Amino acid sequence: MTAVERVADLAKVPVGGALQVTAAGEPVCLVRLDDATVKAVHDTCSHQQYSLAEGWVEDGAIECNLHGSSFDLDTGRPRSLPAVRPIPVYRCEVRDGGVYVDAATPLNDAPVPRH
Ligand code: FES
Repeated sequence: MTAVERVADLAKVPVGGALQVTAAGEPVCLVRLDDATVKAVHDTCSHQQYSLAEGWVEDGAIECNLHGSSFDLDTGRPRSLPAVRPIPVYRCEVRDGGVYVDAATPLNDAPVPRH
């Protein structure tokens, strides 16, 4: 099932930064890499369920603010410990000044991190 929804105005997502939004009832972390490129991943670290949108963006990854695990924004895989499990990655498009995400159909098979 495809359920693309507009989740934010592009102007609300800072270049080189992250923003938490909700899509398909799930917290989603938007990461804006440049003027026109935004990535979307589940906004829950797979280590201890911390919000990734509170973290830092670097080299195509988002780093968790709590213990420093870094997650690849294309694959959802952790690049560094202590997290060892991937996070869901979602299809994300920029058009008409908005950011659109399909959070109902993850691009990988990572389980949704739950508390
Ligand atoms: S909660 Fe993210 S690395 Fe520990």
